[in-house]
Amino acid sequence: MHHFHYRNDELYCEDVSVEAVADAVGTPLYLYSHATLVRHFDAFDDSFADTPHLTCFAVKANSNLAVLRLFARKGGGADIVSGGELHRCLSAGIDPEKIVYSGVGKKPEEMAYALDSGILMFNVESVQEMHTLDGVARERGVGARVAFRVNPDVDPQTHPYISTGLRENKFGIDIREAPMQYRAAASLPNLEVVGVSCHIGSQLTKISPFVDALKKLKELVARLRADGHSIRYLDLGGGLGITYDQESPPHPEEYARALKDELGDMGLVLVFEPGRVIMGNAGVLVTRVLYTKPTSEKSFVVVDAAMNDLMRPSLYNSYHGIQPVRKSGREPVVVDVVGPICESGDFLARNRAMARVEQGELLAVMSAGAYGSSMASNYNSRPRACEVMVSGESRHVIRTRESYQDLVRGETIPEFLGEL
Ligand code: LLP
Repeated sequence: MHHFHYRNDELYCEDVSVEAVADAVGTPLYLYSHATLVRHFDAFDDSFADTPHLTCFAVKANSNLAVLRLFARKGGGADIVSGGELHRCLSAGIDPEKIVYSGVGKKPEEMAYALDSGILMFNVESVQEMHTLDGVARERGVGARVAFRVNPDVDPQTHPYISTGLRENKFGIDIREAPMQYRAAASLPNLEVVGVSCHIGSQLTKISPFVDALKKLKELVARLRADGHSIRYLDLGGGLGITYDQESPPHPEEYARALKDELGDMGLVLVFEPGRVIMGNAGVLVTRVLYTKPTSEKSFVVVDAAMNDLMRPSLYNSYHGIQPVRKSGREPVVVDVVGPICESGDFLARNRAMARVEQGELLAVMSAGAYGSSMASNYNSRPRACEVMVSGESRHVIRTRESYQDLVRGETIPEFLGEL
């Protein structure tokens, strides 16, 4: 459920007209609904209300400071994968003791920053990383709390680019090797083994892969405890899917029930790293039609948003609904909705049946809140879009549109290339 709806054939975000926002700040524009974010956070977090747990929002899904601030105020933590994401979280007031650090390639300076900030734990993904972290912790004079991210070899049945829990993926350590690596970690003086973590993939629309992974993790926790490790945290990652088109993913409550039933009471604090399920349907990308272009093969609708703004269709061939901001009642036609970038792969939708649109009209690309703005780039020297958060009747610019000056910030022309 989200708060984008039509009133008299005009699209609204909560009580604000989408057209009014677009007219005020221009397009392309990311528009987020505060009420939807709160609702989605609560739906997830409340599902685990009867279990000790921590909801650590996956910052990679959307890293805007206002979004992070919102979750901080809800008592949420964060799942980070870089020093940059840590900086964002601290700037937004997220409690460092609720931050977990995942990722296969943490750099020593990033580890140092996280240790100095007092984060909850590192999800270590390789033996070399374990040794590097031990060394950095020694230098900083603090202990590093660690979990190993284990790879349970479960097929999440999702897009191959966002599957992470198979043995062939680069993530985590093989669950079969885990007991040995935990022993090694426990023998290192600056590491404190506190948990087990796992993330099998993203946009999962079935519960069974999560439960299959949990079965294996339960066994591992029992084994590790028997070996004398004090395992307090079980981080089950993120991955719960959303409806982009026809998918019918489980509701967070259903997901929670299945996990709690499987786990029973093991005296663990559960950690979750949801991104998409909270953020995805809470945001849209608003774009204006620049041109319509019928050709002998196809009809193109050229819009002012492109793959640099929303990369998902080009990268994963993913589906995003496209809605008119003003319903016209015109006849449906089949079109490709494409951006201005000089690549044939620059499309937002292909062979899409939608009511015929005309030059100058506005479209909303739905379900763009997660992995939209956070994956945006400046390709073709396109300034990054403006982001706006709506709450009730008010709208707030939470990121201004980049300027041409922003585009060249940090670039210099060396003297030998001549004065301008
Ligand atoms: N935790 C870890 C360790 C992750 O790698 C991810 C996502 C998450 C949590 C959050 O997963 P979520 O709840 O959002 O499914 N760019 C792709 C998605 C990549 C996901 C990468 N990892 C997309 O646009 O579909």
